[in-house]
Parts: sequence; C-alpha cells; structure tokens
Amino acid sequence: MKLDSRLMAIANLVRKDKIFADIGTDHAYLPVYLVENGIIQKAIAADLRVGPLDNAKETVVSYGFTDKIELRLSDGLDNFMENEVQEIAVAGMGGLLISSFIERTKWLKNSDVHLILQPMTHVEELRKTLFDNGFVIDNEVVAEDDDKLYIIISACYYGDATAFTHLDLIVGRLPLNQDELSKKYLSKIYNKYYKKLVALKNANKECTDLEKLVGELSKWQL
Ligand SMILES: C[S@@+](CC[C@H](N)C(=O)[O-])C[C@H]1O[C@@H](n2cnc3c(N)ncnc32)[C@H](O)[C@@H]1O
Repeated sequence: MKLDSRLMAIANLVRKDKIFADIGTDHAYLPVYLVENGIIQKAIAADLRVGPLDNAKETVVSYGFTDKIELRLSDGLDNFMENEVQEIAVAGMGGLLISSFIERTKWLKNSDVHLILQPMTHVEELRKTLFDNGFVIDNEVVAEDDDKLYIIISACYYGDATAFTHLDLIVGRLPLNQDELSKKYLSKIYNKYYKKLVALKNANKECTDLEKLVGELSKWQL
C-alpha cells in the first residue's frame, strides 16, 4: 500500500501496537498500510455509508487482512464501545463534523485514547472544541498534496480545559515547528488576515484587533 503524503503524515502519528480505528475510512488505505507495515495488529475501519465500506472491504480482502481489519458501519464513533480502540484517526471530514464526534463520544475523555484529526475545514473551531473539552494538542503537522496544505492534529484527553487566545486557535502549535510546510502554512494564514486588514482599512472600518493579530502573525513570516 502506498499512501499519499496526507495519509502518510497521519500514519506517522499512529502509536505502535495499539488497536486502531479509522473513522470515515472509505477505501481503508490507512488501516491496510498500518497492518501491512506491522505498526498495528488490529483495526476497525468504519464509515457512515455502505458504499465506502464496500470500497474498504475490497481493499481489505485484496490484501488478505480480513482477520485483522474489521469493517463497521458507524456514524462517527457511535457504534464503538469504550476501551475498544486506543488510536483513532478521523481524516478528510469537516472540522465541525469532527467536533461533533468529540463532543458526543464521552469515552474519548480517557488519557489512553489518542486522536489524530485531519479536518478539511474549520480547523480553528476544532482546536476550540478540543481545548474546551479538556484535550491537549500535543503535536500538529502540515502535509501537502497536489499543492494543497492539510493540518493534522494529535490530541489526548488531559482533564482541565486549556486556556487559549484567538491566536492559539488560528496557529495551533505550528509556530513550534521548524519544517518548511509549517512555515508555508503560517505564511498562508498571514496573507489571509493581511488581505482582510487591507480591505478593512480601505473601507475605513475599525480594525485595531485585526491589526494586532496581523502583527502577531507577522512574527512567523518566511
Ligand atoms: C473524503 S472521505 C475521506 C476518506 C479517508 N478518511 C481519507 O482521509 O482519505 C470522507 C469519508 O467519511 C465518511 N463519513 C462522512 N460522514 C461520516 C460520519 N458521520 N461518520 C462516519 N463516516 C462518515 C464518508 O462516507 C467518506 O467515506
């Protein structure tokens, strides 16, 4: 199994020898790669729909991993039991949908459970959900595929809600990274807010907070 850079970056965050769940698995590429490379022994590949789960079945059967990868219909983690899995990836879905899984799955509030989240949208809202619900973001990486940048968040339950600023929600842990993709992502964010600021200034609108934010974001420019 050869993964694209985005799925590879997710695979690199999976802890070894745990039971893995891939939520919204579609073709089950991730669990198949992890089993094939001996990173995990057992996985549950889950999806909301029968069609994607049929795709997953085809991949799992063709690799001969039917004894190691279980297929399961599930809306988020609704059809999972507590203590069934420790490593959980949720990739390729919107940040608000991922947030809703976290908010309604109470057993995720366990420090043995590790979340690897790759939101396609609403990254800031997802970070807020994690902070508000007592999760700590211990790592964030940026992957690039077809000229698109993706954020991957690694988080575990800690207990206390984390205090955060608006800037924390926007940049997460990326300023701590030294790699080029993180720097590129931070530049992209800076440009987005800088353009907003210019538009407000041109319209003679109040922009003190935004000006401050852009000033803070400028610290991480290439
Ligand atoms: C864009 S694909 C992502 C596939 C794979 N995770 C990846 O990142 O390449 C999104 C998948 O999530 C599934 N999905 C959407 N909503 C879901 C939900 N509420 N619970 C579980 N899976 C869901 C879709 O059926 C689809 O297979």
